[in-house]
Amino acid sequence: MSRIDSLLHAMTLEEKLGQLNLVTAGQAVTGPVVCGDTTKDIAAGRVAGVFNLWDLEALMRAQRCAVQESRLGVPLLFGLDVLHGFRTIFSIPLAEAGAFDPQLWERTACAAALEAASEGIHLTFAPMLDVSRDPRWGRIAEGPGEDPLVGERFAQAKIRGFQGDDFSRIFPLAATAKHFCAGGAATAGRDYAAVDVSERALHEVYLPPFRAAVEAGCAAVMTAFNNVNGVPMSAQGRLLNGYLRSRLKFDGVIMSDYTAIAELVEHGVAADSIEAAAIALKAGVDMDMVSGVYLAHLPEALARGLVEERDIDVAVARVLQLKKRLGLFDDPYRVARLDDSVKETHCILALEAARRSATLLINRGLLPLSANLRRIAVVGPLADSGADMLGPWSAAGGAENCVTILEGLRRALPYCEIAHHSGVAIEGDDESGIAPAFALAEGADAVVLCLGEAARMSGEAACRASLGLPGKQRQLAERVMSAGAPTVALLSCGRPLAVPWLFKRAQAVVAAWFLGHRAGEAIADILTGRFNPSARLAVTWPCDVGQVPIFYSARSTGRPFDAANFYTSRYLDCSNDPQFPFGHGLSFSRTTLSNLRVDCAELKTSQTTRVRVDVCNESDIATEETIFLFARDRVASVARPLMELKDWKKIALQPQQGATIDFVLCAQAFQFPGENMEPTVEPGGVDIFVGFSADAEKLLSARLRIVSA
Ligand code: NOJ
Repeated sequence: MSRIDSLLHAMTLEEKLGQLNLVTAGQAVTGPVVCGDTTKDIAAGRVAGVFNLWDLEALMRAQRCAVQESRLGVPLLFGLDVLHGFRTIFSIPLAEAGAFDPQLWERTACAAALEAASEGIHLTFAPMLDVSRDPRWGRIAEGPGEDPLVGERFAQAKIRGFQGDDFSRIFPLAATAKHFCAGGAATAGRDYAAVDVSERALHEVYLPPFRAAVEAGCAAVMTAFNNVNGVPMSAQGRLLNGYLRSRLKFDGVIMSDYTAIAELVEHGVAADSIEAAAIALKAGVDMDMVSGVYLAHLPEALARGLVEERDIDVAVARVLQLKKRLGLFDDPYRVARLDDSVKETHCILALEAARRSATLLINRGLLPLSANLRRIAVVGPLADSGADMLGPWSAAGGAENCVTILEGLRRALPYCEIAHHSGVAIEGDDESGIAPAFALAEGADAVVLCLGEAARMSGEAACRASLGLPGKQRQLAERVMSAGAPTVALLSCGRPLAVPWLFKRAQAVVAAWFLGHRAGEAIADILTGRFNPSARLAVTWPCDVGQVPIFYSARSTGRPFDAANFYTSRYLDCSNDPQFPFGHGLSFSRTTLSNLRVDCAELKTSQTTRVRVDVCNESDIATEETIFLFARDRVASVARPLMELKDWKKIALQPQQGATIDFVLCAQAFQFPGENMEPTVEPGGVDIFVGFSADAEKLLSARLRIVSA
């Protein structure tokens, strides 16, 4: 008998249910506070794992209690939200997605995993894979942005980074793909709200990153809080048992989100906690995070015949299997060793990730700042706030180690006089600081205006109905810019902000997102030209909240916008165009693309072709470019989007260097869910577009035909 079978055999019902019970310890608050003293429960075998605790001593104490005092000595699993770093905090995922570099995504995950594993953590509730096209939703900050292909590659890279290939790392951090699924489409961009999406949108947009995560071997999946088309995700047997288990053959652990099983009652699909527990277990949820309803109510559900002991055994076996894969039965006290030299490399990596995540949105010749500037005014509430640079979900990363924008600039420009005034707070009505900030700007050669959101305005339960600057920041910005000094605005934020007035007026704007511990140095490097910005937007940037949801891969309409024809698809009071398209991002170089060609103009459904394009850095500044390949299937049985991302490549180019970019494209890349949702590739013409962003007017195009094999 295997160890897992013999344990299962030896367990009482309560001990089994204990293995499905995930409790919070309360060192971090990541939901309603519902923790008590868990020691008694651990000793009684009523707890499978503990999260929100990262004090190694406390973890080891809890583990000793489980191993030495509980009857069967089953070790605990320690979890935490390690999203973009553990001690060393990297850029938030939405910003890092903009580096479009799977290797970077993997390296930062790997660093986070090592740090977390060296302090006793086994399981991260990451990567967050919610495709989102709605910047009102605060959680857009935590994920890979709007595109499913980016989501897929992000999923694969993060899971490799956390777990190693096939759990091969000596101390893997088990990854949890979350939130399954479609939370990014929450009605009106409000967290926890219901989601109503078509089957097509599920298969084309929201499920692919999870499919990629499962294929990459992720250890666990977390269900989303929301309901999808009327059924809360913790009760969605069709997507959990059906899609994940049967179709994708996922055999890892499915866990609920925080108190989500108990919430099935409030959702209106369970009469009471007994039913809620039964429905979730039957739907395929193995572990109950924080609700405690499995432990408290599955015995009654069993007695009433709502579940069978077999259902419980299967779930318990999966949890035990995860503990086994993590090596906890061999060494429950496993802690990775981490040398100081490795920690230093993480610190260097944090700077690299931050630099490659900041997006230069506009530049009217101001950046890089001239070396002759004598006096710079650094103004705004985000200039000197370390805590906000970390962004949401900053795990054990202390704000004290964070380099603020002000510090970064002072270090980078030691001979320049750098004056600072916050002007206003991030939120609030006090305008008394505007006049002194204006006075600083008046006397300056250039102004760095540090605007944006507080870190807590992104992440869970942090949605916004407006996409403007909070508080009196617009008043501050307009007044300061009226001083006439050339101004670069930095937007520290977890979402695109709709501030068209700022883009019109400032000489340069950088999306500074939340770049982590080394934010200030990264920004200073970009402003001074020590680093040539290379990030691209992983999300379309709207110019007005009314355009939301906005994304590049929309479908056509029967009446596409035509300025000469009133009865076409448009707004009366706003353009259809975003402020910046998906993929937008400037550098200090001038790079061109030319000579797009497709090797084989006719492609059988089983074949592969090469698409090539010449790229040339025509400037004297070395650059890193991202080149996107989009496609449009013009006529199909199901209308296809105007553009779909099929691939992208990155290339580093020296001054005046040219190169050829080589995409390998197989006909299967044009697969889509047909009318019956089964994947299909239809013969016919396809447009290929290649360019630096999804800006339709700037893309090169070529055609190919798909023919039956
Ligand atoms: C709720 C969040 O939705 C989820 O992302 C997180 O992992 C858990 N709380 C645990 O903190």
